[in-house]
Amino acid sequence: MSSNTTDTSNETESTTDESSTLIETEVSVDSQRSQTPTETVVSATNLSVSYGEQRALSDVSIEIPENKVTAIIGPSGCGKSTFLRSINRMNDRIPSCSVDGELRFKGTNVYADHVDPVALRRTIGQVFQAPNPFPKSIYDNVAYGLRIQGKADDVDLDEAVERALRGAALWDEVDGQLEESGLDLSGGQQQRLCIARAIAPDPEVILMDEPTSALDPVAASKIEDLIDELVSEYTVIIVTHNMQQAARISDKTAVFLTGGELVEFDDTATVFENPADSRVEDYITGKFG
Ligand SMILES: Nc1ncnc2c1ncn2[C@@H]1O[C@H](COP(=O)(O)OP(=O)(O)OP(=O)(O)O)[C@@H](O)[C@H]1O
Ligand SMILES: [Mg+2]
Repeated sequence: MSSNTTDTSNETESTTDESSTLIETEVSVDSQRSQTPTETVVSATNLSVSYGEQRALSDVSIEIPENKVTAIIGPSGCGKSTFLRSINRMNDRIPSCSVDGELRFKGTNVYADHVDPVALRRTIGQVFQAPNPFPKSIYDNVAYGLRIQGKADDVDLDEAVERALRGAALWDEVDGQLEESGLDLSGGQQQRLCIARAIAPDPEVILMDEPTSALDPVAASKIEDLIDELVSEYTVIIVTHNMQQAARISDKTAVFLTGGELVEFDDTATVFENPADSRVEDYITGKFG
């Protein structure tokens, strides 16, 4: 969160209390957001994903709320990226990958025959772990998705590029140098450029797979602040290995464990302070993973 108004008046001296916080959270700010009633935007029902014979996700059922940040955490290899890729059908590109069960976006089965995966990926955009701008100008990176859509004329395009760069909190740093290569930006700026590229076609959901793990703490903190702003307009689903980050920025947390099982999904405060499953407590406190 960009600001923390957490009331510390109820802090106690008790450090031995079993129910004391496992990870420092700043969820009191988020909780205001989670009090507003919300719609489910992405839902999985008995979703299983396999690569050949090997199962990566096992019978996952989850309802992800609109205009919230949902964090996906869990040890390496537990299927976090697989789950993210199943939401906008990026797994289609992996020939050995098969999907069972249901994945719905606003009620529509995204695996139905009539769904165009390319259009789906504009509505459900994504940002990867390593910043990956195209070897093009800053302008062309952001305009890319809009040009493919064939929608925008030049005037609209200029406006849309500026809007996306402002939305990604990058405009002030690149105004006047839009024709320079996206690859000449710093790592943190490149990642915000990738966020601008993802939001330019006006998606509804943004998937982020460890978007700050390749960045220094200052750049990572800027992305965290940005996520906090993005969520007023978009639904953000973020995979992170950084437990403090999940606690800081998310409203909901889903914990996957080895075998691709979703073992807990709840308000972030509950998951970090009072998880229902003892394996989640062990994972969060670093006993494994
Ligand atoms: N393209 C692929 N082909 C075959 N198996 C794969 C492929 N991608 C992932 N897997 C397997 O599926 C399982 C889940 O992988 P996935 O990448 O989803 O895990 P993850 O939770 O994102 O891990 P990490 O935290 O290391 O990124 C692993 O056993 C992995 O080896
Ligand atoms: Mg992964």
